[in-house]
Amino acid sequence: MVNKLTVAIDGYSSCGKSTIAKALAKHARSTYVDTGAMYRAIGLYTLRHQLTEPADIIAALPNIQIGFVQVSVPSADGEPATSAQHVTLNGEDVEAFIRTLEVGNRASEISQIREVRAFLVAQQQLMGEHGVVMDGRDIGTVVFPNAPLKLFLTARPEIRAQRRFDELIAKGEHPVFEDVLADVNDRDYRDTHRAESPLRQAEDAIVVDNSDLTPDQQMRIIIDLYDRKLASLKQ
Ligand code: DC
Repeated sequence: MVNKLTVAIDGYSSCGKSTIAKALAKHARSTYVDTGAMYRAIGLYTLRHQLTEPADIIAALPNIQIGFVQVSVPSADGEPATSAQHVTLNGEDVEAFIRTLEVGNRASEISQIREVRAFLVAQQQLMGEHGVVMDGRDIGTVVFPNAPLKLFLTARPEIRAQRRFDELIAKGEHPVFEDVLADVNDRDYRDTHRAESPLRQAEDAIVVDNSDLTPDQQMRIIIDLYDRKLASLKQ
């Protein structure tokens, strides 16, 4: 009997995919996989090794191992520690290095290389065999075209830029809002216009525009979609 659904979540950068995917995975007792972190880890590798030519990046793929580890995060005020997923690059926890604008832009660039995509898609398909919540750009179209529940998240660019701006400030960076907005627009353009698996909505995906939703409202909508889909497949 079906008791967990594979969920494919796609959408533009900074529209809250990972927050919603993590919460849904918790609700469904499934594993969450952040595929953007995998592209970011390869982006970080190419920055560290100063690889810019696609041929050099493709030649380096056999030397790159991407993984995930669960780490315990201490909470403030004596609250119990929570668990978070961090991406590893050749065994090193690189979570602290991959969330910068520089690595995000490099990830977007290297994600245009067909061999890089094939390398990661094969690993993602293996992770998904037993039902996961996976987010990215091509999950519903390429990685799991048969996923029973596909969500396509979106929000207006200004709203996404403001969220990214707030995150960078919270990390102690000093961004300029106009730069962050330009970056969001550039990345949208690259993600939707690349030749290899461009970001697009799967025909059977449900679109959720969260521009004017609170995180709680969005969560309730998505959990309800999940529960109803699961119930319909159990009948
Ligand atoms: O979701 P993110 O911002 O962490 O993703 C970083 C970049 O990786 C994004 O610009 C495009 C790319 N990416 C992709 O091409 N395919 C995916 N499944 C996930 C991310």
